[in-house]
Amino acid sequence: PGGELQEYFDAIVAADQKIEPRDWMPEAYRKTLIRQIAQHAHSEIIGMQPEGNWISRAPTLKRKAILLAKVQDEAGHGLYLYAAAETLGISREELVEMLIEGRQKYSSIFNYPTLTWADIGAIGWLVDGAAIVNQVPLCRCSYGPYARAMIRICKEESFHQRQGYEILHTLSHGTPAQREMAQDAVNRWWYPSLAMFGPPDGDSTHSERSMAWKIKRFTNDELRQRFVDMCVQQAGVLGLELPDPGLRWNDERGAHDYTQPDYDELMRVIKGEGPCNRQRMAHRRRAYEDGAWVREAAQKHAEKKAARKHA
Ligand code: ACO
Repeated sequence: PGGELQEYFDAIVAADQKIEPRDWMPEAYRKTLIRQIAQHAHSEIIGMQPEGNWISRAPTLKRKAILLAKVQDEAGHGLYLYAAAETLGISREELVEMLIEGRQKYSSIFNYPTLTWADIGAIGWLVDGAAIVNQVPLCRCSYGPYARAMIRICKEESFHQRQGYEILHTLSHGTPAQREMAQDAVNRWWYPSLAMFGPPDGDSTHSERSMAWKIKRFTNDELRQRFVDMCVQQAGVLGLELPDPGLRWNDERGAHDYTQPDYDELMRVIKGEGPCNRQRMAHRRRAYEDGAWVREAAQKHAEKKAARKHA
């Protein structure tokens, strides 16, 4: 590839237009996208587990139907994202195998347990809230298929966030025990949600290049700050406290000062030593093995159908 292709690529990115699968792209750009999109897809799929834990124990039929639909949405997000990654020349099977073999990551947040029903509220409000703050800018990512997948995903995420908020609102305005349960869930999910945005900018290996390529539009710390500022006001309406004694408005910065999450803990969780990593991976592996016959049957069916068409 000569300099001309690189120049064309640079010009498209500079003009805020989209790189499409047919376009030439630097190998490192392709690799970074595969890594990020795959990690994102795996997170959606593994993310079904902590919430799936409460489907059979939701407090009402209506809550159960909503949660079931939400968890199905996560599966859908995983599938669009695998499809987006496939446009980069890798197959879904390869990606799933990389996850199963521990060669690709998924978000740290899904390695924490869901202990009470209020955790479903806290996941919706905080985890899906953080996901939206991180993902809205990805709708403007320079790679077309990823950017387009994000548009629908963000719409669904904002519904998820509201359902979580509504669960917490109901609990925080309920009996003292329900209020306490809601506060306890927020206390446990707050710092892991802040850590979802990744290591601080100084330790973020990929940010600089991903920003130059316009895959990322903001740094990890910029998005984390935006999330904190958003939550403070919403916590006020919920009547719940964010568990950070250092949280206060800083007039000079026009933003809240806050206590950073424990990044050593984040690194431990990323390396597989979080409270639920082993359980999540074991469950995923089992589901993959148990589903083998479905994949084989679907494949055979598709082959037969194709053969009939050509006969
Ligand atoms: N969980 C697991 N791994 C993480 C996390 C996290 N919360 N944050 C960072 N990492 C990893 C990175 O993948 C990278 O590891 P690698 O080089 O082995 O891939 C390393 O830590 C260093 O981090 P960065 O250089 O900052 O990585 P990156 O530029 O990819 O930024 C971020 C991380 C912000 C998560 C980015 O990948 C992103 O925006 N991804 C898309 C959104 C996403 O995946 N969301 C999933 C959870 S939301 C949901 O599913 C509801």
